[in-house]
Amino acid sequence: MGTLLAVRARGIGKCFDDVVALDGVDLEVTRGRIYGLVGPNGAGKTTLLGLLLGLAVADSGSLEILGVPVGRALAAPDGVAGFVDGPGLYPSLTARQNLTALAALHGEGPRTAGVDDVLHQVGLTDVADDRARGFSLGMRQRLGLAAALLARPRLLVLDEPSNGLDPAGQQHVHGVLTRLAADGTAVVLSSHRMDDLEALCSEVTVLAGGRAVFSGPVGELAAAHGPLDYRLVTSDPPAARRLAAGTPGVRVLDATRPPHETGPPCDTGAPRDPGRLVVRAPVPALDTLVAALVQAGVAVRELTPVVSPLEAAFLALTAGQQQEADR
Ligand SMILES: Nc1ncnc2c1ncn2[C@@H]1O[C@H](COP(=O)(O)OP(=O)(O)O)[C@@H](O)[C@H]1O
Ligand SMILES: [Mg+2]
Repeated sequence: MGTLLAVRARGIGKCFDDVVALDGVDLEVTRGRIYGLVGPNGAGKTTLLGLLLGLAVADSGSLEILGVPVGRALAAPDGVAGFVDGPGLYPSLTARQNLTALAALHGEGPRTAGVDDVLHQVGLTDVADDRARGFSLGMRQRLGLAAALLARPRLLVLDEPSNGLDPAGQQHVHGVLTRLAADGTAVVLSSHRMDDLEALCSEVTVLAGGRAVFSGPVGELAAAHGPLDYRLVTSDPPAARRLAAGTPGVRVLDATRPPHETGPPCDTGAPRDPGRLVVRAPVPALDTLVAALVQAGVAVRELTPVVSPLEAAFLALTAGQQQEADR
């Protein structure tokens, strides 16, 4: 029995000339779990996933993959498969030929999967004999996933696997990853889509500027953020504004202000309608406001978070770094 940890990374640092891509990142991924890496562009996600795949070596820190310390030599650690920056495919070969060529490299054995089986798993059976050249981004992603599945990895590493997927493709990919995790495979994926994280990942690390600014269960990420911004539509906007302003704990945000002036960047959902309020409040204060509105005879027609709790937490955690990156 090996360790239950598929990845154990401590204080990982990686620079490209004077760019610090990773700055002391810790990561622990348990077998049988789907783990998410999120962060804005340039946060270091691809760099970190590349280290897990043995495509590059860290400058500092320690890394163990499936219980084995990773050395200084560039080599794919045993039991790991996946891709960063899109899968490598032969455009002039069909989906099936691409996979057959790869399967030949792996050699057949108890630890390899069949080409037809992996094509079926990712939903590409119908286009198996079409050339990869004509594939959409989403189809290429799925073919890349099929290629990774051939080796029956114990750690699957995927960089933005949901890019370009239509809803059906996404369902296939989610199904595949969930089944793999249930069979004990660890999956590490990067995504900038909060719906992916919510649907798939038990734990996430939020990277910003090469640092892990949050690590933990997805539910804790949603709760990690303070009061949310809510859109409030009522039958009497001026009265609602007055009542909101007079409710302790409720802050009325000017819906016409640019997002960056409202604290954590909140896209107020294009609320250029003066009848629509945006308020920032913890839930108990919001309850008080709703009771006050009802008592004053003001009908509440809509009260919804401007962004999902997860997205709000993500934006708040990564706001500073993003503004630095934009400068
Ligand atoms: N091969 C490379 N050469 C130079 N800089 C790189 C290289 N790979 C990544 N970087 C830099 O490292 C930082 C992190 O990049 P990356 O890991 O690709 O971020 P993400 O995948 O989160 O968008 C960025 O500033 C990027 O420009
Ligand atoms: Mg990337």
